[in-house]
Amino acid sequence: MTAENTLFAIAQEVQSCTACNLHKGRTRAVPGEGPANARIMLIGEGPGYHEDRQGRPFVGPSGQFLNDLLAMAGLRRDEVYIANVVKCRPPQNRDPEPDEIATCTKLFLMRQIAAIDPAVIVTLGRFSMGLFLPGERISRIHGQPRLVNGRLIVPMIHPAAALHQPQNRPLLEADFRRLPEILAEAERLHKQASFLSPQADEPPEQLRLF
Ligand code: URA
Ligand code: SF4
Repeated sequence: MTAENTLFAIAQEVQSCTACNLHKGRTRAVPGEGPANARIMLIGEGPGYHEDRQGRPFVGPSGQFLNDLLAMAGLRRDEVYIANVVKCRPPQNRDPEPDEIATCTKLFLMRQIAAIDPAVIVTLGRFSMGLFLPGERISRIHGQPRLVNGRLIVPMIHPAAALHQPQNRPLLEADFRRLPEILAEAERLHKQASFLSPQADEPPEQLRLF
């Protein structure tokens, strides 16, 4: 099966999923979108009001801002893959619960990552960061790429947090502006990692880079 077919199949499963409580309040599930061969994948938290209505990720105010941030990095939105930790909107935009995160990521996000095999994963916010860099503090490590299983994970502040707290805005913008440089390094490391073909059950390798 091609990566594109796998992503399509996952999206169909997401639409009819009832594996956790979040399915009860959703209008539409939001599987994610972007090209199957994207080199950069961005992972947010979960759908908000607008995403839930449209079935697409980052289409509300945070999404507008995300488009601007991508432009600052010289990237078009249609060349990155955009997904979320949970695919259904938590009621009143509450935080997703640990069991909802565990269920949804095991069923869908981890399979999306495997299919796309991006060189860089940008995590937006602490729940997304927590999947790859548990126990870290976003305020301390934002913008610093870490090598995890042959991929560079770049933890970033959530765009909504920067909209609510304007003092975070320059930090987030500066982190996005460094993405092209990080991608170039990631491609080099990713090729090396594929060549060495690490086992999936190896403990994550967490090098501090740059
Ligand atoms: N915030 C998120 O984390 N994801 C979206 O898709 C929209 C807003
Ligand atoms: Fe299924 Fe994920 Fe939606 Fe829960 S949040 S119902 S696991 S798609």
